[in-house]
Amino acid sequence: SASTSPDAPAEVASAGTPATPKGLAAEATRRRTFAVISHPDAGKSTLTEALALHAKMISEAGAVHGKAGRRSTVSDWMEMEKARGISVSSTALQFNYKSGESEPNDPISVINLVDTPGHSDFSEDTYRVLTAVDAAVMLIDAAKGLEPQTLKLFQVCRHRGIPVITVINKWDRPGQTPLELLDEIHERIGLTPTPLYWPVGIAGDFRGLLRRGEDGAPQEYIRFTRTAGGATIAPEEILDADAAAARDGSDWETAVEESELLSASGQDHDQEMFLAGQTSPVIFASAMLNFGVRQILDTLVALAPAPGPRDDIKGASREVTDPFSAVVFKVQAGMDTSHRDRLAFMRIVSGVFERGMVVTHAQTGKPFTTKYAQTVFGRERSTVESAYPGDVVGLVNATALAPGHTLFTDKKVEFPPIPSFAPEHFSVLRAESASKYKQFRRAVEQLDSEGVVQVLRNDIRGDAAPVMAAVGPMQFEVVAARMKAEFSVEARMEGLPYALARRTDAESATELGRQRGVEVFTRSDGVMLALISDKWRLQYLQKELPELTLEPLVATA
Ligand code: G4P
Repeated sequence: SASTSPDAPAEVASAGTPATPKGLAAEATRRRTFAVISHPDAGKSTLTEALALHAKMISEAGAVHGKAGRRSTVSDWMEMEKARGISVSSTALQFNYKSGESEPNDPISVINLVDTPGHSDFSEDTYRVLTAVDAAVMLIDAAKGLEPQTLKLFQVCRHRGIPVITVINKWDRPGQTPLELLDEIHERIGLTPTPLYWPVGIAGDFRGLLRRGEDGAPQEYIRFTRTAGGATIAPEEILDADAAAARDGSDWETAVEESELLSASGQDHDQEMFLAGQTSPVIFASAMLNFGVRQILDTLVALAPAPGPRDDIKGASREVTDPFSAVVFKVQAGMDTSHRDRLAFMRIVSGVFERGMVVTHAQTGKPFTTKYAQTVFGRERSTVESAYPGDVVGLVNATALAPGHTLFTDKKVEFPPIPSFAPEHFSVLRAESASKYKQFRRAVEQLDSEGVVQVLRNDIRGDAAPVMAAVGPMQFEVVAARMKAEFSVEARMEGLPYALARRTDAESATELGRQRGVEVFTRSDGVMLALISDKWRLQYLQKELPELTLEPLVATA
């Protein structure tokens, strides 16, 4: 269980460790670990607050990310990074939840919400977080529909086979019609939306939700009442069809008709199709007014998969009841003297984690003590005593750990590495002063091994001017700031006019090197990458020189 401080996650595990396989399986079964994928401004922070409010973790929305605090977080990200060594958005939030439909004897669910850093700090971490979750909530602004960042993250979910629940947010504001929004999802990403709840009232006049049964038939009308500023849970009234018709006549009837239309086109929930990533349950909501938030939690508990077995590097399955194992999915370095540490975040795959236990680092075979295990939530860090499959734990001063690394006890295991994602930003890095070249090299090596940026080299540019490749431009600023703080090296950066990277090989390299707007590099893991100025140049190359190898990199390309 976690120690309590005002902002810390609520106590989760009951006293006594379920050392038995049965106890362990039960702990895993009651957990749901997910991330919200969205474009900036869709309402992720607001939804996070609302979810935590529903889980009764905090008494009033706004305590998680005070609005003022949130704004400063976005604009002062580097300041935060410097001051705290963590960004507010880099955390995993854990809370207990008892679903409305559960029986009195059903166990309380444990929800782990792993945050995807977004906004200006969009980086490889944003993608890596998705390797630590079992499901994703795709949050869409009802007026804007699908937006670029959402699409990128969705592609990673698809690639990794992560089931997606769709939430259409801001239904309290004028937006598109619900059917238009569903069409857009279906046409643009080929995911079949299967609404579980259908809005009563058009966007901008949100009355409540029609709950659809498995066959699409209306089950009940959940009618919401606004509270002042949405700061408390919105009261719900549950009405049957007759009472609904009497109450909100034409709005209710429209909802019933549209729901029938969905059934006619086969848009009813199917659990297998959902888990296979073919369909996506849909919920309409207003995070701001707290409408539909309980329904999101209930859906996660009812439909999202619990932590399950994971394949290791040899394809053998590590069961949740096996001895402890975990995967590191993110490493964050402290910049501040009082927090001069590195936090490695791991997701537990199997077994029980207990603070203080000695685990083995699979990549080096060395023992690693876990005396300083923490959950990091907002600005608060609190000590973790024990954790179970699906949980996220931060390890302090974990210098040897990098994203994709495995930790285990008893039964050796190594999980597959996390793929590096297609970079879209490229920059040459140089030490300001030649006398610091040694430190500069060490810094580059260190940041490369941590996966802060990808490091590319070629013979023409030489070792003194490696090229950094990143998913988001903020990663470069992190590099420069850390070089200065930790290695006392002032580094200069010059952006390069490339926008795309493609995997290539030695055979194609010579010909590619002759092309305009193309440069070939070798990444530190040995993969050859062709950087290309823009998509038109790429199309030209593919058309004129089809024999050349130009393969998309993972997922986001
Ligand atoms: P993000 O983390 O995804 O970037 O989004 P965030 O929650 O910060 O929300 C972005 C803006 O959208 C905020 O308004 C927020 O209040 C608003 N918002 C979020 N959910 C809803 C909703 O369900 N309905 C409506 N009407 N608005 C919503 P802002 O004006 O940028 O900031 P603020 O002044 O409200 O803090």
